[in-house]
Amino acid sequence: MNFDLPILAPSILAADKAQLGAQVQAMLDGGAQWIHCDIMDGHFVPNISFGPNVVASIARISDEAFMDVHLMIAPVDPYIEAFAKAGADIITAHVEAGPHIHRTLQSIRANGVKAGIALNPGTPASAIADLLDSTDLVCVMTVNPGFGGQSYIALEDKVEELRTMIGDRPIHIEIDGGVTAKTAPALVRAGADVLVAGSAVFKGGSVSNPSPYGININAIRAAVG
Ligand code: DX5
Ligand code: ZN
Repeated sequence: MNFDLPILAPSILAADKAQLGAQVQAMLDGGAQWIHCDIMDGHFVPNISFGPNVVASIARISDEAFMDVHLMIAPVDPYIEAFAKAGADIITAHVEAGPHIHRTLQSIRANGVKAGIALNPGTPASAIADLLDSTDLVCVMTVNPGFGGQSYIALEDKVEELRTMIGDRPIHIEIDGGVTAKTAPALVRAGADVLVAGSAVFKGGSVSNPSPYGININAIRAAVG
């Protein structure tokens, strides 16, 4: 297992779903450490992706890879147990998904899983000031959630503000959306330590030609230095 920082967490939203298992194995072989599963319900975001049964299949591919489940759904609470049972190592819920985010984080942890909070681009860092002792990860959306391949929204100041708020707590700052070798360096300098990248990792590769996955991952890592 590669413990290099920043952690690379490719989003399988960008993978070819007809070859999903083989593509996940290929991205792991290319140096990915986490598997970022973007769950969308067509209600909280204007797109539908996949559910716990797909997460369970993906989780069986590797005992080592960290299953990073990003719930872009509302409500969240009725589905926590299913994703925990599917093999999630962390479940991240959006602070915007409902009125009781603190209870949601408690419920995620009660299912034996790490808890994360995601913030849409329009949500200030201050929105989670009272939740820092209930979370293991803050996911900063640098696109409006729903689709891969969108244009990056520069939010390095928000990342810096969060890193200051977090202080010496063991909390990851994850960036999700428009992460490339170009945008990653400023984000890591600002305090991010987990990078989600979909199109930047999967571009140019395929199961029959997987080498671009490792090349793309290494390009992001090299850019960060
Ligand atoms: C948005 C998705 C995307 C995806 C990453 O809802 O969560 O951010 O993971 O997509 P790219 O890396 O292609 O922007
Ligand atoms: Zn995501």
